[in-house]
Amino acid sequence: RNPACARWYPIRDHILQTLFSGRCTPLARAAVRLAFHDAATFSLARQAAGQPNGGADGSMLTDPAEVQRADNNGLQGIVAALAPLPARYNVSAGDIVQVAGTLAVIVCPGGPRVRTFVGRAPPPTIPAPDGLLPSTHAAVPVLLARFADMGFSVRDTMALMGAHSTALQQFVAAADANKTLDSTPDIWDVHFYEQTLNGTADPARVASLPSDVAFAGHESTKRAWARYVRDQDDWDEDYARAHLKMSLLGQETRGMVECTEVLP
Ligand code: HEM
Ligand SMILES: *[C@@H]1O[C@H](CO)[C@@H](O)[C@H](O)[C@H]1NC(C)=O
Ligand SMILES: *[C@@H]1O[C@H](CO)[C@@H](O)[C@H](O)[C@H]1NC(C)=O
Ligand SMILES: *[C@@H]1O[C@H](CO)[C@@H](O)[C@H](O)[C@H]1NC(C)=O
Repeated sequence: RNPACARWYPIRDHILQTLFSGRCTPLARAAVRLAFHDAATFSLARQAAGQPNGGADGSMLTDPAEVQRADNNGLQGIVAALAPLPARYNVSAGDIVQVAGTLAVIVCPGGPRVRTFVGRAPPPTIPAPDGLLPSTHAAVPVLLARFADMGFSVRDTMALMGAHSTALQQFVAAADANKTLDSTPDIWDVHFYEQTLNGTADPARVASLPSDVAFAGHESTKRAWARYVRDQDDWDEDYARAHLKMSLLGQETRGMVECTEVLP
């Protein structure tokens, strides 16, 4: 055990037990999405141009305006639950968001252990750039360009999309409100890939996102998508690698400490 990780055990217990009730609850699913929305304001192009940038910096917990952006609808509950923790435990907001994210992945049955690092800098005082989160109505090449601008390959991107295995939609279309994105939203599994591809899940309960249907069928992504159909091990491995990368976007990783040991 690394002594530098000792302070993370009570934080882990707080997040897992008090917030998630030890299960793949709505707050846990929202925590996976929050880890993405906090990190995905990062842009390699902005970095190269020396412009203010986003990243896995916890700004979602400290900038009330960012949380209110329409892109982040549905994340207000998890943000309110996590926001007190940095001060309470004297750790950075970015660490809280990303540790909550990897804990949420593993609390959803079947979820892989994603290597978990701590030591992120405090969030910047300027707002995260707006307009960088992907829209589910955007075309596949636009979405792939945005993910490439975060540093993700097509394969990384298709692996990350499997987080929609434990997901529902509330705000995309009123008629589909609270429908899930596969038939098993409490389980971290690959049914999502097959059901989205085939369109076979019960439409009374499941509604695929336009972007997921597009990925499953588009010339440039369908092969990477199909790779995970009925291949949980392959997906878990790719997902864990891509999620780790996501959790570090925009951060100086030198000096960070690996605390994967706190995952249950
Ligand atoms: C092209 C990229 C993506 C698009 C367009 C997208 C879009 C969406 C949309 C529209 C919803 C439903 C929101 C609502 O109406 O409540 C959603 C939910 C969700 N997304 Fe994504 N997403 C993308 C990538 C990701 C990634 C990379 C992750 C994590 C690694 C992720 C994790 C989630 C989770 C866990 C939910 C469910 C939240 C809940 O049940 O409360 N998404 N996403
Ligand atoms: C909070 O943590 C920092 C190091 O991350 C340390 O320098 C500081 O003394 C801590 N503050 C308290 C009140 O423990
Ligand atoms: C969807 O679920 C949320 C949270 O449980 C609830 O507040 C909302 O009213 C539901 N919406 C519909 C259309 O059922
Ligand atoms: C999806 O389609 C493939 C190929 O047609 C088929 O083998 C598979 O059984 C289908 N899966 C489901 C869940 O319907």
